[in-house]
Amino acid sequence: PTLLAAAAVLGYLFGSIPFGLVIARMCGLGDLRQIGSGNIGATNVLRTGNKPAAAATLVLDSGKGAIAVLIARFLIGPDAAQVAGLAAFFGHCFPIWLKFKGGKGVATYLGTMLALFWPVGIACCLTWLATAKTLKISSLSALVAAALGPVWAYVLGAPEIAGLAIALAILIYYRHSANISRLLAGTEPKIGQK
Ligand code: G3P
Repeated sequence: PTLLAAAAVLGYLFGSIPFGLVIARMCGLGDLRQIGSGNIGATNVLRTGNKPAAAATLVLDSGKGAIAVLIARFLIGPDAAQVAGLAAFFGHCFPIWLKFKGGKGVATYLGTMLALFWPVGIACCLTWLATAKTLKISSLSALVAAALGPVWAYVLGAPEIAGLAIALAILIYYRHSANISRLLAGTEPKIGQK
């Protein structure tokens, strides 16, 4: 239990680094929380028009989930890896540095899945990409990818991560409640739109 708690703390600390906010500020784009949806993720960085900054946010927000999982697995074991992934997701969504007002967790979810069992991670990324290419809406792509995550876990031979995939999907839906309202109202912007 002590080691699992250590994995949780490690994951949370990694996850709580708000890369989008830091990168936007470093690039002189201002406070991301005052722009577009107000979210601190890559999708909202892209609304500033700065594609490299958005790509860097995506890579780093995914990377922090992946690194937390890999370190926890290396030092402790597979259960700790799942705990670290969940904690990194929580860290991104509820970072202590931003008074617990963080992001929606999609990039961190993808990085976590890639590190836990890469075929499932790749399948989730491809699901996101295919939906984004077709419908051009970031939040909807995330909702589809999150819903299919547990399915991919079973189909691709990693049922041991299906429980975590279900928990993360529920959290992703919860964090996208404003997006879901806009989707239902037909007012959710397309990728890159303000
Ligand atoms: O990753 C978050 C994305 O799904 C939605 O972002 O800024 O459109 O609310 P945003």
